[in-house]
Amino acid sequence: MFEGIESIAIPTIRTPLAALAALGILSCSPGPDAVPDAVAVAEDLHSYSNPAEVEVRHLAIDLTADFDNKELSGWATLEFSRLRGSRPMILDTRALRIEKVEVSADGHGFHETKFRLGETDPILGTPLEIELPLSNGYVRIHYRTTSDSTALQWLEPEQTAGKRHPFLYTQSEPIHARSWIPLQDTPAVKVPYSAHIRTPKGLRAVMSAGNRPDLPADGDYRFQMPNPVPSYLIALAVGDIEFRPLSHRTGVYAEPEVVEKAAREFEDTEKMLVAAERLFGRYRWGRYDILVLPPSFPFGGMENPRLTFATPTVLAGDKSLVSLIAHEMAHSWAGNLVTNATWRDFWLNEGFAVYLTRRIVEQVYGRKRMEMEALLGVQALREEMERLPESDQILHIDLKDRDPIDALTAIAYQKGALLLHTLEAAYGRERFDRYLRAYFDQFAFRSITTADFQQDLQYRLLNRAEPAFPVPVKQWLYEPGIPDGAWMPPPDVFAHVDKAAEAWLEGELPASRLDARGWSTQEWLRFLRAIPPDAGAGKLAQLDRAYHLTQTGNAEILGRWLKLAIQNGYERAMPRLRWFLTTQGRRKFVAPLFEELAKTPEGKKRALAIYREARPLYHPITREAVDKTLGWTESSG
Ligand code: BES
Ligand code: ZN
Repeated sequence: MFEGIESIAIPTIRTPLAALAALGILSCSPGPDAVPDAVAVAEDLHSYSNPAEVEVRHLAIDLTADFDNKELSGWATLEFSRLRGSRPMILDTRALRIEKVEVSADGHGFHETKFRLGETDPILGTPLEIELPLSNGYVRIHYRTTSDSTALQWLEPEQTAGKRHPFLYTQSEPIHARSWIPLQDTPAVKVPYSAHIRTPKGLRAVMSAGNRPDLPADGDYRFQMPNPVPSYLIALAVGDIEFRPLSHRTGVYAEPEVVEKAAREFEDTEKMLVAAERLFGRYRWGRYDILVLPPSFPFGGMENPRLTFATPTVLAGDKSLVSLIAHEMAHSWAGNLVTNATWRDFWLNEGFAVYLTRRIVEQVYGRKRMEMEALLGVQALREEMERLPESDQILHIDLKDRDPIDALTAIAYQKGALLLHTLEAAYGRERFDRYLRAYFDQFAFRSITTADFQQDLQYRLLNRAEPAFPVPVKQWLYEPGIPDGAWMPPPDVFAHVDKAAEAWLEGELPASRLDARGWSTQEWLRFLRAIPPDAGAGKLAQLDRAYHLTQTGNAEILGRWLKLAIQNGYERAMPRLRWFLTTQGRRKFVAPLFEELAKTPEGKKRALAIYREARPLYHPITREAVDKTLGWTESSG
């Protein structure tokens, strides 16, 4: 049951293909199969590390979780070889207390070596320089985390579903791995890892690696991730965690209070995996499990290999939000197998994942549902483009001196997906699917840049066939806006909803006669998007009486509804707003609501009162976003 994982030892540092092309290596009559293997490191503005000089081949961590002091302590052992030069090994750290650094030739006898911490940068953290007296061997760093370790959230028992046990989880993407493990924190580097985790007895530790729910929760856990993975996919959670199998190779982990509900919600997981394998090639990670986190988890989902982390806000009760699971699963190909080499190339992870998700959803839930989700995606893209400067409407985004989280916009996700839809439309589904499978094979377990993608696409697809219409790939990748000829979902999938919305807004149709009782989540989201910010509280009240939107258990619908409630001064929804903001911490729901509140003086007052109560629940990533919006400082609390 826990076997069958592919273990591959391959060199993991690669030269962008484009660099080879620039050197003329690719320029002579490139036959369709002439795409060469790549071999050095893409420049990553968000890491101090020097992987082109010192290669790390394996990572082992040995950590004890101390819930009283909210601290992980222990060591990380990195197996290394010097490739060139004589500079020290440089690792990324953030807010770590480094106690001692040792080296060893054989991994057994260790002796101390000199190290130095450099200056701290607010975005990048602190470089750790380690003197290497050997050209091959092992480096062991003894350290502990601190209260500023941004990857970690230590939850009090009251902040969990069960309210009896504390909980710890990590969120490493994009550059928070360095705040709990000193390492080369760049997605250009991939290594297999192993871990030994000690916890209080009775709590279970799980990781983005091989998990053993059949073993007792005795506080002593060992993990192996035999495939090379980038640092941002290293993940750990500790808590009162139970397991329910869904199929022979899929299952759910969650607190006992949620695990049954989660198992029902995610019952289609195996079906999705079968569909994904049929479309994109074999699933190469062995098991696919899902961990449902406590409500403060800052994201919807996180594609940690073998163990997707998911927000409990996806548990709508009717499976209507499970394309989120399809999305994280899709990363098993796009992102986890073929990884963005730098955060500028983030769209390669997310744009691909969104496109692959649509393909899975189409297979499992039908074409209509896929088209509806795609149209909502396009709508979100158009909305966000109005706010984004042109420079941020580029897939290959400029992140110099910026936090890589800035790449997390509808551009990477939706514009990225539209490019792939457009290529599919131009070259035909069959040919495009062949291209996709070849892309995943070619770059499996590697990291690539946007230029690598472009080069490969040229040889593997564009040079081989005549498109039904031209696709300006360079413009898609390096220019703002949506190029002409972009694929679009049929604009009329929501025609009936749009008509109803118009008639109701015009006052021609009472809310009770909207015929909305059978609407899906996607239809409701479309309807709510049509309501203007000045529709008036009376209008919302009417709708609420007919459909009880304030009481909906669907977090996506509620998020949208509450935003309208704030805009329209619909006071009756305000207690629900406070409830929503103080019982979950998903950044995507929380940040826009605080932003909306902060637009008026009374709203801002309300926001601050709610935030005072909610902030301790939130993960540092969500806090950072809301702090900025509300101008919150330590003294505000
Ligand atoms: N990998 C992302 C989450 C992420 C991105 C975390 C960047 C940190 C930095 C994940 O796959 C994702 O996109 N999650 C989405 C849900 C998805 C259905 C679009 C989310 O969390 O909202
Ligand atoms: Zn994603």
